[in-house]
Amino acid sequence: MDHSMMPDMAVCIRVPKAEGESVRSGLISAGILDTRFRISSDGDYLYIPITADSYMDYPAVVTEPEERERRIRDYREVADVPAGLRGLLPSSFDVVGDIAMIKIPPELLPYKEQIGNAMLLAGRNLRSVFSDSGVKGEFRIRDLERIAGTGPSETVHREFGARLYTDPARVYFNPRLSSERARIASEVKKGEIIIDMFGGVAPFGTVICRLSEPAAVYSVDLNPEAERYARMNAERNGIKVLKPITGDSSKVIYTLPDADRIIMNLPQAAERFLRYALDKLKPEGKIHMYKILERSALESFCDDLASEMESLGFSIGIKCSELKTYSPTMSVYSMDITHSG
Ligand SMILES: C[S@@+](CC[C@H](N)C(=O)[O-])C[C@H]1O[C@@H](n2cnc3c(N)ncnc32)[C@H](O)[C@@H]1O
Repeated sequence: MDHSMMPDMAVCIRVPKAEGESVRSGLISAGILDTRFRISSDGDYLYIPITADSYMDYPAVVTEPEERERRIRDYREVADVPAGLRGLLPSSFDVVGDIAMIKIPPELLPYKEQIGNAMLLAGRNLRSVFSDSGVKGEFRIRDLERIAGTGPSETVHREFGARLYTDPARVYFNPRLSSERARIASEVKKGEIIIDMFGGVAPFGTVICRLSEPAAVYSVDLNPEAERYARMNAERNGIKVLKPITGDSSKVIYTLPDADRIIMNLPQAAERFLRYALDKLKPEGKIHMYKILERSALESFCDDLASEMESLGFSIGIKCSELKTYSPTMSVYSMDITHSG
């Protein structure tokens, strides 16, 4: 049935009131509760609007249901958790394509399904919700468990006209860096050679190629899944100059041409690779390095890094800006590094 042909009509299923709550949860999990309309009641029955033609064996009727007065904007309004724990509900979470990933505090884990269902209800474009136990290992992959909705964690994230195919359970992806990717793309001049030493699914490379005209972007990553998705992103966005490579960038970089620009998004340890990047950077080139630091340690970190590079024969200038807060005392910094002197 084409629901778009009948904007004021909806399919509702007739459900005995006693089964209302479990059916509503089931519909949310299946992603077919029609949240545009109110649930109405008549005697012993509820009429629950759905976006499908039927659900289980409940009788379906086409009705003109009452529209919701307002959309639920914050999942916390409808999350079914004890009042004493409500204050622990996270105020933010990551959305990648049509999936959401939320870090749930231990006290709320027994209510993870309720949290996931509430997020699906509030986030109309979400297909499924995963609890996120953090980024782990060398590949920086998230530990995800689906708590509501359907389907896999593979998804397509849209950013500045690019379609980024990714699976956060198999390869690192951070939707919060979109402005930074755009900033770098805006600096890129036609014909640049760019190396992304820790490229992941190549979000930097893809967005740069969409917004600017580099001659080549080499996107290197240890994780073979990153290369698979980076190739998909190059192909599906019609980009020929993006070249994904699997390997350790401290070695792979010596097989590549000298670069005008090198991206180093490995915030835990990027500085350990800086000497290799400086080896391959053209004299007028620029490195974009990301680092998570205690705010009080920023100055000493930059001084120590400059001294260490000096001892290796590289004279460098570092321009820092705070990208975002990481914890009450730590921030993520972007560091633009150039040869100096
Ligand atoms: C923080 S993620 C950044 C991914 C990507 N730049 C992005 O913004 O989505 C760091 C990536 O570096 C990769 N990695 C870690 N050590 C590496 C190495 N020695 N050489 C190449 N890649 C490495 C990991 O597999 C991971 O995908």
